[in-house]
Parts: sequence; structure tokens; C-alpha cells
Amino acid sequence: MLQYIDIQNLANRATWDEGRYYQKHRQESMSSLRQAVHLVGRPEQFLVVGVGNANDLDLPELVGMAPKVWLADIDRASVERALTRQGLQKSSQEGEHEAVRQDFQERLRVWIGDAGGSAQEIDDFLRAVSPQLSLQQMERLTVLTEALRRLAKRAEDYRLDADEAQVPEPGLPSTGFDLVVSQCVLSQILWPVTQAVWETAGIPWQEGQAKLVRGAQESLYPELARALHSLALGHLAWVEKRLRPGGMLVINTDVSWQGVPLYGTDVEAALANMPPSQGRKWAALQLSGPKEWEWHLDEATRALVRSYRIKKASL
Ligand SMILES: C[S@@+](CC[C@H](N)C(=O)[O-])C[C@H]1O[C@@H](n2cnc3c(N)ncnc32)[C@H](O)[C@@H]1O
Repeated sequence: MLQYIDIQNLANRATWDEGRYYQKHRQESMSSLRQAVHLVGRPEQFLVVGVGNANDLDLPELVGMAPKVWLADIDRASVERALTRQGLQKSSQEGEHEAVRQDFQERLRVWIGDAGGSAQEIDDFLRAVSPQLSLQQMERLTVLTEALRRLAKRAEDYRLDADEAQVPEPGLPSTGFDLVVSQCVLSQILWPVTQAVWETAGIPWQEGQAKLVRGAQESLYPELARALHSLALGHLAWVEKRLRPGGMLVINTDVSWQGVPLYGTDVEAALANMPPSQGRKWAALQLSGPKEWEWHLDEATRALVRSYRIKKASL
């Protein structure tokens, strides 16, 4: 069984040489970042999560945008390769990495880890559902439903614990960033879970996604919807917590593939459907009208990307 990190690593390896398809997406992504930097006004430090291969990011430009720029991802190998490819560091034969310029050395920080994506919880879920192919359809649905309930509960607990305890991530400031960017991470967190559900239940992807979006009430769908909602909020809570009061969040996320909505990536809906017990903190976030663009991932695949800009209230 592939683990969450292996799935991300494989996806990054598969898209490493696909830069030609990223031009428009990169232009739009960088434009969303420039606007946010302009609105924040001379950020002291900012954080970009989901750097990966950086096909959609101009890393030298990013590093010039603030005295401290943190680049983060769960997949170390892709970030190291991207930094080398974009000329920010050189790599020795022994696998050591060294910044090519003194100012890059001073400004650039790399953090590798899970940005509130409940990777451990998703791994446990994948393990619980993967050996089920030998079971009858009804039994599989029961196992899936139970595993989804557990995943939703664990993702919720994780978020609440992290909120209360202000859990520090080793090596990363726990808060204080002027700007935090989530670069197409949300759909990546949700994808391994939906994919495992469709495969195990034998439901075609398009059909399953369409029913999820319509709010189907038959067994499996409400549980999957709740799990995806909890996972999405876990990531949003993680990035939000890193912002200083008055700081800005940019969430760039693919929201549909081939015209099929990706359930759980609608940030506006996620914030609007917040449980009342947690609504207060989130109500202090102001979301400004999202922008959208098309991204052709290859000749055959078309995604719609939405860019949300969210301001955290000042104290
Ligand atoms: C679709 S890619 C973004 C595109 C990327 N900027 C590029 O041009 O290659 C999503 C990135 O998010 C990273 N990612 C996925 N889940 C993550 C998590 N839970 N925490 C941190 N990074 C994650 C993946 O490793 C991947 O590099």
C-alpha cells in the first residue's frame, strides 16, 4: 500500500518535466502572490506551502519579496530539485545542498512536513480500507463507512488539539507570518481519500464526485463528505494559525477537473458551514471575491483553479 507521502512523491515525479503546461497557471499563481504582497505591504516574512516542483512558482522572484521566505512541502526531494533547477542552490555529489548566493542563504528557509493535512490519519485510513477487495460489496461499504467516520473524527480532533495547544512544528515559526500561501495543496490532501473510496466501492470517479456535490444521502456519501470537510478545515486551520493578526492568506486550489467539481475544495462553502462552536475564530476572516483560471495539465486534462484571498482581522 502506498503511503500519503509516496503518493505525493510519485505525483511530483510524474509532473517534474511538465513545465510547458504550467505557463498560464504559473503566471496567474505568481500574479496572485504579487498582489497579496502588495496588499500586505513589505512583508517581513512569508510562507509558501506546496512548493513541490515549483513548476508554477518563480522561486528567485519569491525570494526577493521579503527578508525571510519560507518554502514548505511534505516532499523534500521535489523541493531540493526545484531549488537546484531554478538556480537557488547547488548540489554536491554527496547530496549536500548549498545556496549559490549569500542573500539567498540569508533569506531562504525550507521546511519539510505535513501542513495540517492529517497525513498520518489518511495513512491509517488507507491501511484500513486497502485489503477489502476480497469482501462482498455490502461488507466493503460497511468497512469504508466506518473507516471514514474514524478519519473524520480524528481529523477534527487533530484540528481542535492543534488550535488549543498551539502545537509548534519543529523548525517552523508557529505564527507571525505576514502572508501564507497554500499552492494547490487542498486537492492533494483530499484526492487520496476520495480515490480510495471510489476504487474500494467500485464507483466511477465522475459519478461519485457528482453525487457528493449534490449531497447524496445514501450510505457512504455523508461520511465521505464529512471526512473531506474535516480534512479541508484541518489544512485551513494550520495555515490560518501561522498568520499574524492582520496578515493575509492566499489559497490557490484546483476546484474542478474536466468540469467535475472536486468536493471539499470550495473554501467559501467550508468557512460558511463551520460548526457554531468554531465559528467565532473563522468569522474574523474576510474573504475577498475569488479569481479563477483554467489550467491545462496536459493535452487531455483541464482543471479550474480558484484563488482565494483571506484577511485575518487585526487585534
Ligand atoms: C499540486 S502540487 C502544487 C504544484 C507545485 N507547486 C508544482 O509546481 O509542482 C501540491 C504540492 O503539495 C504538496 N503537499 C501535499 N500534501 C501536503 C501536506 N499535507 N503538507 C505539505 N505539502 C503537501 C505536494 O507534495 C505537492 O508538492
